[in-house]
Amino acid sequence: MFRRSVVKLAAAAAVIALGVGSATAQELPKLEPKDSYKVGFAQTESNNPWRIAQTKSMQDEAQKRGWQLVYTDAAGSAAKQVADVNSMIAQGVDAIFLAPREEKPLIPAVMAAKRAGIPVILLDRSVDPSLAEAGRDYVTFIGSDFIEEGRRAGEWLAQTTGGKAKIIELQGTTGSSPANDRAQGFAEAIKDHPEMEVVASQSGDFARDKGRQVAETLLQAHPDATAIYAHNDEMAVGAIAAVEAAGKVPGKDITIVSVDGTRDALQAIIDGKMGATVECSPFFGPVAYDTLVKYANGETIAPKIINEDRFFDASNAQELIAEAY
Ligand code: AHR
Repeated sequence: MFRRSVVKLAAAAAVIALGVGSATAQELPKLEPKDSYKVGFAQTESNNPWRIAQTKSMQDEAQKRGWQLVYTDAAGSAAKQVADVNSMIAQGVDAIFLAPREEKPLIPAVMAAKRAGIPVILLDRSVDPSLAEAGRDYVTFIGSDFIEEGRRAGEWLAQTTGGKAKIIELQGTTGSSPANDRAQGFAEAIKDHPEMEVVASQSGDFARDKGRQVAETLLQAHPDATAIYAHNDEMAVGAIAAVEAAGKVPGKDITIVSVDGTRDALQAIIDGKMGATVECSPFFGPVAYDTLVKYANGETIAPKIINEDRFFDASNAQELIAEAY
């Protein structure tokens, strides 16, 4: 014990002497290979089918492998999610899977886990890349390419409208990586279409009722709107109700496109109320735990592991709705 401390002190002194900062500040915590792990999953909220499907996938897969899962739900609060991660650290989990609600406020949670020697894998949402880095502060990010999702939604809308649309954009949670990236990808896709214009853009916080309320207000302010781009299906379904309340026909007067692939969205496509949705898969369990095992075994882990996503529209919604969530 004494000898180990002396060696550690000597190593720290050498690092300081070299002027390169603390060695541990640069290194990811290691994970010992084991038959079974006690892992944490810090969920951001549970108010939509996507989140419920993601949690179920994490729980089912843990149960299948005989792993212990410590699950927390931050109920839409970044502050609670930081506290949830701290509680997982105190409970001595082997690793933490974190779905960060917003890019910046979850940085302290990532760093606290690192300091405690617990590897973190980011699931579905990322953190600010200028403040934390894969391979240094957390193991990897597993999820969809949100910029590409926004781009695909924009390209579909350009094609469907012949490059002519006055668009209301319902943004996701302010400061979250999917809201930032889906806005960026969509803007890139429509920038070469001079007759496509985002007339209003506001956050509906990825929630159905908030999406409906925001869409109602924006439809009143912009009666000439011809399209709605929602950053997720829950807000798109809320927007359908808002369009109907405004006395307009969704899918005819207003073209609606969004992201996720929920059952309600696929049904809306079948009913002709929604045009298309870009898939964002919530089924993380198998890839999340496989990645952790590979990490424990010393394999090199890519800084980003990107899910393959499909595209749903009138051509395949009926065929695929049975597997939707
Ligand atoms: O981070 C993924 C997004 O978060 C999903 O599109 C949305 O439905 C969820 O709340």
